[in-house]
Amino acid sequence: MQTVGVIGAGQMGAGIAQVAAQAGYRVLLSDVSADRADAGKAGIAKQLARAVEKEKIAAADRDAALDRIETVGDVAAMAPCELVIEAATEREEIKRAIFGTVGKVLGDTAILASNTSSIPITRLAQAAPDPARFIGVHFFNPVPVMGLIEVIRGLATSDETVARVEAFGDTLGKRIVHANDAPGFIVNRVLMPMLNEACFALGEGVATIPDIDAACQLGLNHPMGPFTLADFIGLDTCLEITRVLFEGTGDPKFRPAPLLVKYVEAGWYGRKTKRGFYDYSGAEPVPTR
Ligand code: CAA
Repeated sequence: MQTVGVIGAGQMGAGIAQVAAQAGYRVLLSDVSADRADAGKAGIAKQLARAVEKEKIAAADRDAALDRIETVGDVAAMAPCELVIEAATEREEIKRAIFGTVGKVLGDTAILASNTSSIPITRLAQAAPDPARFIGVHFFNPVPVMGLIEVIRGLATSDETVARVEAFGDTLGKRIVHANDAPGFIVNRVLMPMLNEACFALGEGVATIPDIDAACQLGLNHPMGPFTLADFIGLDTCLEITRVLFEGTGDPKFRPAPLLVKYVEAGWYGRKTKRGFYDYSGAEPVPTR
């Protein structure tokens, strides 16, 4: 597998493109416009420049990785790819439209994969030309740092598709885990109830935002406390995935915390809007409650 397509040049797509290029693949990176794809590549260049400064990689390796990434403004350019990973906005209709369009140009052995964090793979596969060659490959943010890929097979995904995606993940140096096509897969099934519970605890006055964060960071040795992590992921994304768990299982233990809903309704999505459980407009994050 030599050429990999990545659709969506945001944080996740750019991260996936970066690690694939660093592993030696030729990468075609697309977004809704060539400008957006170029912006994604510029972000990768910045990440790689930082790695050179820290003497983690050689300048020549950075240049070679960047040379392997070609930005395109149209998914029709993905025709030469043997694997295409969609990392677009987490909205089912957007993903379905992408699969329909790119599916028309891909060769008849190419694999189409989705980086969805919560939409069922079996359902998404209906929009792909061949559900046997459709699969979930879920990366974690920041992609260059996080060592995991969740591989999710849909009902029709073939063994060969799974094996080829495993081989790809191995070349990226990531640990692969297999999850069934169940709501939240593994990581979000375990993580989101914890983040949601932190919101319940805050709403009930158990402790403050900094104390709940410090308790989990220092008492559990987590790299980030739940509110810092929720702001990092995006509160809209956390709520969306929590709703998928709640609706997908019908189990009331997954009901979204009213405070999480309120923050999302306020448009306080976390770091990306500069305000979530912390306010990021100053030099240091300040708790919002
Ligand atoms: N991109 C690339 N590299 C990054 C980065 C980024 N956005 N942010 C940090 N790094 C790198 C740094 O360059 C540094 O690398 P070196 O050790 O090689 O120098 C390393 O990560 C550590 O960074 P820092 O020292 O700046 O900061 P830190 O020690 O606080 O680590 C962190 C930052 C890696 C983000 C760490 O806090 C962490 O692991 N947090 C938890 C992240 C997490 O849980 N992610 C999963 C979210 S869930 C998800 O993605 C899936 C979903 O479906 C919602």
